[in-house]
Amino acid sequence: MRIVVGVTGGIAAYKAVSVIRSLVLLGHHVDVIATEHALKFVGAPTLEAISRNPLHTDLYEGVAQVRHVALGQQADVIAVVPATANSIARFAAGMADDLLGNTVLASRSPLVVAPAMHTEMWQHPATQANIRRLEERGTVIVGPESGALTGGDSGPGRLAETETIVASILTAARAAKRRAIEDEQARDLSGRRVLITAGGTREPIDPVRFLGNRSSGRQGVALAARALARGAEVTLIAANLEVPVPEGVSVVRVSTAQQMATAAAELAPRHEIIVMAAAVADFRPERVESGKIKKEATGDALTLTFTKNPDILRQLVAARVPGQTLVGFAAETEADDAERLEIARRKRERKGCDLLVLNQVGWHEGFQSEYNRVQIIDDSGSVLADHEGDKMSAADVILDAVVQRSLAG
Ligand code: C5P
Repeated sequence: MRIVVGVTGGIAAYKAVSVIRSLVLLGHHVDVIATEHALKFVGAPTLEAISRNPLHTDLYEGVAQVRHVALGQQADVIAVVPATANSIARFAAGMADDLLGNTVLASRSPLVVAPAMHTEMWQHPATQANIRRLEERGTVIVGPESGALTGGDSGPGRLAETETIVASILTAARAAKRRAIEDEQARDLSGRRVLITAGGTREPIDPVRFLGNRSSGRQGVALAARALARGAEVTLIAANLEVPVPEGVSVVRVSTAQQMATAAAELAPRHEIIVMAAAVADFRPERVESGKIKKEATGDALTLTFTKNPDILRQLVAARVPGQTLVGFAAETEADDAERLEIARRKRERKGCDLLVLNQVGWHEGFQSEYNRVQIIDDSGSVLADHEGDKMSAADVILDAVVQRSLAG
């Protein structure tokens, strides 16, 4: 492991030497960054000899190598031993006017902080608030322990034992490495181009009215967010969303089914995976009135004539590019599981898509909600997954099925 040990200016700085020595003897590469005040308590030659590396102190040395960034980026973990009340306050505030502060800010690796100070300073609400802020950001706080302090008094504030600090540093570094490997493995859509439709179309009746549906776009946006996190290049055709689109997703805004059809036809050939989560109006008013329909002019009943919208999914299936995986959605209100599944199987056959995601919707299910039940049907009619959970987890289950399917195909 590459470990940066920051040493700040307290009497316990001499104990940092044994932490550094233990890490080096365990075979780790240790870079020490000492603050100016730390060097009043422990000598630079000691830190260099024990760490077997040059000591870093000055922000303005090695500027050409952008050292604060390099040290932080290369580190598997940064540990501050001891951390004074002042340095804890500075980390909590994100200050960067010395090399250690810069290195901590320029790093994504875990931060382990071992406080050491007088009991009053440790218990001060300011210090406690700063510690909570650091913990909220995921900083590991080791100690302090209770015991004899330098002033002859005793209480909480004593630096934790060397073995405890070393164990915390290595545990934090290993956990971060494991997470990085898992994240890398989870990028199973890396380099894939994914097109997603989301939201509900609105079909204008007159300048102020439209025919719409209750889709909020949450499931489609969750699919876009998860596909992006799994490494895909994501394009979202968004119809009247009620939720924000994550940064990094390229968005094409549309409102009507016909606009969505045009955008989808243009974008589809460039995408390998297409997921049609949008609720598309099957019909639109045959004519759009140029002025607001007046109730005085219509009498007690209003009759509108509707014309069929293009079935976008079917059109994309018909124009399918080899290797493309197409996923349709079916939002059905039937309460009976078997009946709903049968409707979905028939719909998949009619549409010709590879996978179909069945949602149960109703007055209280599906739409607007953070939760969703999804059943995924493949082209043999088998139910590949039956999942209930928030829309992010539903998105992952859908993408898992897509990945399996496109690997198999
Ligand atoms: O036929 P139904 O509307 O139930 O089909 C739902 C699926 O077909 C969804 O994936 C939806 O995005 C898509 N669809 C479409 N064009 C339409 C209607 C629905 O692409 N006109």
